[in-house]
Amino acid sequence: MAPPEAIRLAVRRAFAGTAAGPLAGKKVVVTSGGTRERIDAVRFIGNRSSGKMGRAVADEVYLRGARVALVATQPADRVPYGVVRVESADDMAAAVREQLRDADVLVMAAAVADFKPRAEESGKIQRGDRETLTLDLVGTVDILAETARPGLFRVGFAAEAGPQLWRAREKKAAKGVDLLVFNDILAEGVGIGADENAITIITASEEIHVPRTSKSACAVAIADQIEAGLQRS
Ligand code: CTP
Repeated sequence: MAPPEAIRLAVRRAFAGTAAGPLAGKKVVVTSGGTRERIDAVRFIGNRSSGKMGRAVADEVYLRGARVALVATQPADRVPYGVVRVESADDMAAAVREQLRDADVLVMAAAVADFKPRAEESGKIQRGDRETLTLDLVGTVDILAETARPGLFRVGFAAEAGPQLWRAREKKAAKGVDLLVFNDILAEGVGIGADENAITIITASEEIHVPRTSKSACAVAIADQIEAGLQRS
């Protein structure tokens, strides 16, 4: 039997009356969580992303009638939509490429590593009598940047260490996305790992500030802007 949370979402969707909305029947690919880049058989380079923001967006677009594929680094087994588990940036890139074949919208909420070890050491690196250890890192693929194509509505995130909205504006232009969601990870009580967030959604024509609130309320605002964007395009 499906878990109660999945049933609850499915029932809410059935009664939501959004079957004719702009997201109804559209395939939305959402990524969530932080990638892990393997150093050796036991160690990895990771980050503190909880995956909650991506999961909230996936739930919200599902409620609006979308066909959802969640590409996640964390387990998400109590959801009424498809989940592809991945570990590294390379895994995530491959899964996103596969899922995008028939997709209409991509939401890159995941915290993807920018660098990975050039090669995974076999076995476990021994301390031995070393004083220091230097890792040789190479850049990962920029998943969001490589997915630009006509007909695909793309949403990026920019988690910045400070109120640097200008960085997010630059990222929106550099990655050519339709929407960019900015948040300041140093702001009190929000962002990485928290249940709340405070975001600014940068669209083609305006910047919408959503003051500190639950991640599900942020997801409502993001989904509203995705729908508005889909209607314009
Ligand atoms: N992103 C991605 N692939 C990567 C790195 C980031 O798809 N290898 C996506 C993230 O999911 C996010 C957006 O790009 O939606 C911005 O990520 P961020 O880490 O803020 O930006 P970077 O491009 O890594 O730039 P910088 O590290 O210089 O801030």
